[in-house]
Amino acid sequence: MPASQATLLIKKLVKTFPAGNQRIQALRGLSMQAHDSDFIAIMGPSGSGKSTLLHCIAGLCQADTGEIYLDGKLLANNNDRQMTALRRQKIGVIFQSFNLLPNLSVGDNICLPIYADGKKVDKDKLYSLAKRLGIVDKLKRRPASLSGGEQQRAAIARTLLCEPSLILADEPTGSLDSIAGNQFCELLRSLCEEEKRSILLVTHEPSVAVWAKKVIVLHDGQKIGQLELPEQMPATELAHIYREIIADAPRFSATATMPTK
Ligand SMILES: Nc1ncnc2c1ncn2[C@@H]1O[C@H](COP(=O)(O)OP(=O)(O)OP(=O)(O)O)[C@@H](O)[C@H]1O
Ligand SMILES: [Mg+2]
Repeated sequence: MPASQATLLIKKLVKTFPAGNQRIQALRGLSMQAHDSDFIAIMGPSGSGKSTLLHCIAGLCQADTGEIYLDGKLLANNNDRQMTALRRQKIGVIFQSFNLLPNLSVGDNICLPIYADGKKVDKDKLYSLAKRLGIVDKLKRRPASLSGGEQQRAAIARTLLCEPSLILADEPTGSLDSIAGNQFCELLRSLCEEEKRSILLVTHEPSVAVWAKKVIVLHDGQKIGQLELPEQMPATELAHIYREIIADAPRFSATATMPTK
């Protein structure tokens, strides 16, 4: 599919962070794209730039250079207010911090972004989502009375209830047991197949990544591998391929930092 039709198009993204009198290069000219119904798992060693990439796409941090287009529109053209609205409506973010408000019920927390937009909540949708995530009996409770995994699922529901066309998930199964993790991956897969959402899912776990249609491997801020996944690839096979890609990765360690200007 041509890049011009991509839901998400990223061109030569560079992001550095200050580190003393040096700068860490978290992303080194990374390019990629995602279309409707793409479900892409992003894998890579710790520090390879996965979270930085998602933060840049979500507008939570600004790249030094490079461009990100969402539905053909340059994200950098949005001001903070527009970017916040985009994050409620179009870009759904599922990160590891749950950010549930302690004084609101779980149900109200889930509905909060919709209330913030002055819209009405579709109660059927809320209950069916909560049911699929296994927290329907927790909606009236306060977040503090839920386990970590249940809070994570409430945060997931809050994001998905807004029906974002692009879902960014950073290690979302970290606090979930394997059954809840699988249910969540199944839900993501159905959102991508039945509702044509685009999903970028960062994970270290091959058993999670195999739910995706494609895997992108990052290393030292660059894309070093991309593979299309057949239906039902065993996680052990993906783990093996991943290890081979990483073993062949170019080494940038000597240039992992660069002096500040
Ligand atoms: N706010 C920051 N300030 C300074 N350096 C940062 C900052 N955020 C990220 N980095 C650095 O940028 C690089 C990429 O970090 P990033 O968090 O994107 O890695 P990651 O692939 O998500 O790792 P992990 O799998 O451990 O979550 C790392 O070297 C990290 O130390
Ligand atoms: Mg990370």
